[in-house]
Amino acid sequence: MSFLEVQTQTAWGRVLAGFVQWCAPQSGWLTLDVGSGPGLLPALFAGRGCRSFGCDLDGAALRGRLSSSLIQADACWLPFPSGTFDLVTATNVLFLLPDALTALQEMARLLRVEGVLACLNPSERMSVSAAAALADERGLQGLDRQSLLDWARRAEAHHRWNEEQTVNLFAEAGFRRIEMTLKVGPGLARWVKGVKDKD
Ligand SMILES: C[S@@+](CC[C@H](N)C(=O)[O-])C[C@H]1O[C@@H](n2cnc3c(N)ncnc32)[C@H](O)[C@@H]1O
Repeated sequence: MSFLEVQTQTAWGRVLAGFVQWCAPQSGWLTLDVGSGPGLLPALFAGRGCRSFGCDLDGAALRGRLSSSLIQADACWLPFPSGTFDLVTATNVLFLLPDALTALQEMARLLRVEGVLACLNPSERMSVSAAAALADERGLQGLDRQSLLDWARRAEAHHRWNEEQTVNLFAEAGFRRIEMTLKVGPGLARWVKGVKDKD
């Protein structure tokens, strides 16, 4: 299963489409998706009239890219000037990073004042058993089932922040007006948005 197939041929693509809607991007916004893989999110933002960019640490993850504006870069050292973007997103990336706070501070640097950061990560409810139960309940098979279970395995091996930990992390990185919602079955994923309030 290629990365492009996961983003375009599994239920994951529909989750990302819902996430884009929740971000409420405005036409003309400059957006950056960090850890974009082949770039479904930048492509969806472009479809809503944004000037969208993406980046990923792994050059192989960019293969078959859906958007031309993707570069290879580390979330902790992003090669863009400060205050550039209206919206920065990172889906299923922060939870993998050993130093999520440094990456969040770097994303804050790139945002204009009042710019929005929106992230998606597995919640504290995510586990292999919870994912298997959801897959059974929904009758998921093939790529859909496999990608959900892979996600749960990676979540168990990395971070699964709860609400309080998420708020503290975002606040420490300089974000205010933090809002969040639980998604994916019984809330296996947490979507969180925050606004940069000063430089
Ligand atoms: C689970 S995938 C999520 C991809 C995409 N955001 C999505 O939701 O489909 C995690 C991605 O983050 C990238 N990644 C991991 N560490 C990174 C880092 N330090 N900087 C930038 N990208 C990173 C990986 O290469 C991979 O493409």
